Amino acid sequence: MGKLSIKDVPDSTFEGKRVFVRVDFNVPIKGGVIQDDTRIRAALPTIEYLRGRGARLILASHLGRPKGNRIPELSLEPVANHLSKLIKQEVKFAPDCTNAAPEIVSRLQNGEVVLLENLRFNPGEEANDESFARTLASLADVYVNDAFGTAHRAHASTYGMAQFFDLRLAGLLMAKEIEFLTKVRDNPDKPFVVILGGAKVKDKIGVISNLVDKADTFLIGGGMSYTFLKAAGKEIGNSLFDEKHFEKVKELLEKYSEKIKLPVDHYAVKEITAGAEKKYFEGGIERGWIGVDIGPKTIEAYKNAIKPEGMIFWNGPMGVFEIDDFAAGTVEIAKAVRDACKGGAKVIIGGGDTVSAIHKAGIKDEELTHVSTGGGATLEFLAGMELPGIKVLSDKNG
Ligand code: 3PG
Repeated sequence: MGKLSIKDVPDSTFEGKRVFVRVDFNVPIKGGVIQDDTRIRAALPTIEYLRGRGARLILASHLGRPKGNRIPELSLEPVANHLSKLIKQEVKFAPDCTNAAPEIVSRLQNGEVVLLENLRFNPGEEANDESFARTLASLADVYVNDAFGTAHRAHASTYGMAQFFDLRLAGLLMAKEIEFLTKVRDNPDKPFVVILGGAKVKDKIGVISNLVDKADTFLIGGGMSYTFLKAAGKEIGNSLFDEKHFEKVKELLEKYSEKIKLPVDHYAVKEITAGAEKKYFEGGIERGWIGVDIGPKTIEAYKNAIKPEGMIFWNGPMGVFEIDDFAAGTVEIAKAVRDACKGGAKVIIGGGDTVSAIHKAGIKDEELTHVSTGGGATLEFLAGMELPGIKVLSDKNG
């Protein structure tokens, strides 16, 4: 059943009301400067929609993992300043969610916006503490969740406080993410190619298990591929290996060896640093060497599998792409999916690293069908798990 979004209710729901919007402004910030504002821009349609309807907006997010401590580097104040420029209107900043916020919120006029300080400075947020949830809820008349990237967390702002509202609405980003990812999960266009990379094996096992009946091909690369290669009986040298999930990987490979494609050649180094000597290996990787990128034969094979038709989902880089010397595989796959999209395939990208990889390859979000703002949330959604931040929202026909 669909979730009720802010577009499904009358404008009078918002006019002159205090509207709490949980956003995901967990963005990279260095020295007070925002390095990538994709997630902030992704929330703009919801912010503009609600401002345009006379809402008094209370935006709230986490940033990083301060674990209940007030860490100055993880303050959201730079985000408030940045957002002011994006919406061309002052965004007020509440230096804490409990003491300062009520007074600032009470003075908000229709169409004005306040951003609360990092929710996770308060230990009650991650603990989903009831009294903290009540405090947050007391700030507002209407609850909106637009933080798809955090929907897999049952925290006070994404889950606990929602129970104090009759109407629990999806923001426009949340609604869009649910729509695209439901299509990928339940009814993908065919052929359906799933490209998985990155370091973590655990996150991807659920995705493979849940999508295996619908997907035609899985193209595996990146750090996770070495556990798969070892399970296929290859030497992986000193490459990343996940012993804990080895048995499960072996099981998947035995059952679905036809669908799961693994790298056939690699570049490896002795130490993962820029400028390190790179050695090419076909098949296995020698002892003492660490795999850092897929090789040209793998790139060629994967490019042939990425066709301008059906649907392609990609999560996780093909190598240590942050270092230019080891980025070739990731960049080539990024260009291949962009070209496939141009040719008619629907391309959905998930995960922070994959989005950075796309940008590194000079590709714009608009060149792809959908760029998800979720990392862990996207993977859990595709693994068929129920995300608390979505579950808690009002049903369309409920
Ligand atoms: C993310 O970046 O994936 C989300 O903002 C969630 O952050 P978390 O993993 O710290 O809960």
